[in-house]
Amino acid sequence: MITKLRNGIVNHATAAKKTGEIIAVTSGKGGVGKTTVSVNQAIDLRRLNKKVLVVDADLHLGNVDLLLGIRAEHTIADVVKKGIPLQDAIITTQSKVDVLPASMASLDLIESEDSVLRKLANAFKTFENTYDYIIIDTGAGIAMNVLSFLLGADKISVIITPDPASITDAYAVIKVVKSVDKNIPIFLTANMVNHADEGEVLYKKMNLMAHKFLNSHVLYGGAIVRDDAIARSVKQQRPFMVEHPNSSAANAIRAMNRRLLQTSGGNPLQQNNLFERVMQTKKTAIEWNH
Ligand SMILES: Nc1ncnc2c1ncn2[C@@H]1O[C@H](COP(=O)(O)OP(=O)(O)OP(=O)(O)O)[C@@H](O)[C@H]1O
Ligand SMILES: [Mg+2]
Repeated sequence: MITKLRNGIVNHATAAKKTGEIIAVTSGKGGVGKTTVSVNQAIDLRRLNKKVLVVDADLHLGNVDLLLGIRAEHTIADVVKKGIPLQDAIITTQSKVDVLPASMASLDLIESEDSVLRKLANAFKTFENTYDYIIIDTGAGIAMNVLSFLLGADKISVIITPDPASITDAYAVIKVVKSVDKNIPIFLTANMVNHADEGEVLYKKMNLMAHKFLNSHVLYGGAIVRDDAIARSVKQQRPFMVEHPNSSAANAIRAMNRRLLQTSGGNPLQQNNLFERVMQTKKTAIEWNH
């Protein structure tokens, strides 16, 4: 079956999928737990014997690497500018999760020139079959580079907290994504809640809004309680999936992964690798930011 898509790309829906599944972790507001969730989710997927790459695409420097206690020597900006091989930028952590650091400069590069993305897309060809999952820790909001990653993902994980601003801003992100592509599954996870029920109530409210105003829906990712042990483990650069595998937060991450794995993704660009996808979605992201 060959389908002609909205952006003119031909998709062979029955052909084998070339790349790993891309999960973009995002939020409307910063500081809600994107990096914490991305890293711990990756560790759990690794435990399930999946090969995982975390792409640190957050504008804040030293995010994923800080949490994992590693130090990034090169970023994708060095791959493009200095011709460093992509494998030299990828770090394998103690938990056997691979990390590809972006940086402010890398993301600026993505925005500026198509040739940069072409270089990255070509460099990434070697890794097309390496990973089962690619988790992108994006920045908050709908900046051009964030939206490019979201529209290129197979699944999106939106993190909120009980803070009303985080919910309003998350709705704004969901609205933009749904107005471009209704088929990418969006999971909503409530972090820093007092108890799991609170998270479920927040999810139901958001889902109701998606039904009412966007003629769509969001899926339940789960609820992660506010836990000082999480904050401590972040400070000690030891992810709670490793430090506290029996905590309620670790259980919530496992449940979240089960839900994600049970749902099939819906990106029409699924035959393309991460940066090939961003080359395509960038155009739409630019339109939304003008
Ligand atoms: N469930 C939780 N309980 C307690 N503290 C948490 C929880 N989740 C995250 N935190 C803490 O909240 C802070 C922000 O988390 P994190 O860095 O993961 O957020 P972020 O969304 O990636 O932020 P940014 O937008 O700055 O990248 C960290 O100090 C982390 O330790
Ligand atoms: Mg972060």
